[in-house]
Amino acid sequence: MNARSFFLTASVLLLASCRQDMHDPPRYRPLAASEFFGDGRASRPRIADTVARGGLRLDKRLYKGREGGALIDTIPMPVTRKMLERGRQRFDIYCSICHGQLGDGDGMVVQRGFRQPPSYHLDRLRRQPVGHYFDVITNGFGAMAGYASRVPVEDRWAIVAYVRALQLSQNATIDDVPAGDRSKLEGR
Ligand code: HEC
Repeated sequence: MNARSFFLTASVLLLASCRQDMHDPPRYRPLAASEFFGDGRASRPRIADTVARGGLRLDKRLYKGREGGALIDTIPMPVTRKMLERGRQRFDIYCSICHGQLGDGDGMVVQRGFRQPPSYHLDRLRRQPVGHYFDVITNGFGAMAGYASRVPVEDRWAIVAYVRALQLSQNATIDDVPAGDRSKLEGR
């Protein structure tokens, strides 16, 4: 036996005795069947009255837009330029198709026949507290579906802040512009 065939034979023997335990761990694929559990499901349902790690939502202002049952009228997060820009981007993606980019209610889907939403610039809606907008995005309103499954809580508030900015943009007067910035508007 030369050296080459000795090593070949030795490695074949070594590999053959190698156990596969670490390579094929016993596990279930998601939603697979199981004979171990009485209901035959490998994926276990959530246990009643428990909260998943990271899922505790005690802050009712942030998660419900309410305090003591009443809708709140201040945004429960710091409103920054970055947040407004995020809100504009999310609004343009999720809302403008129906509400229009200015919130007039003339989005493309409406032009194609979907029920027309009210303009955000109606007095009735301008007077609504921010909690109402959060609630409408979260739970839907009449013909409009809720967006809780697609838009996370922080993004919902960013959209609310941007809707407020849209409302101001359509109803602002020159007095709302800081004196130092008014000259920038001239000549436009
Ligand atoms: C598929 C079209 C559609 C989309 C997308 C949509 N809406 Fe609406 N929305 C409507 C319609 C239609 C109504 C009027 C519902 C009614 O009165 O039955 C409405 C109503 C509203 C109202 C007014 C509620 C009131 O008090 O009268 C607000 C505020 C609102 N939507 C915000 C949003 C925001 C914010 C988004 C994006 C996250 C959004 N909508 C996405 C169609 C849409």
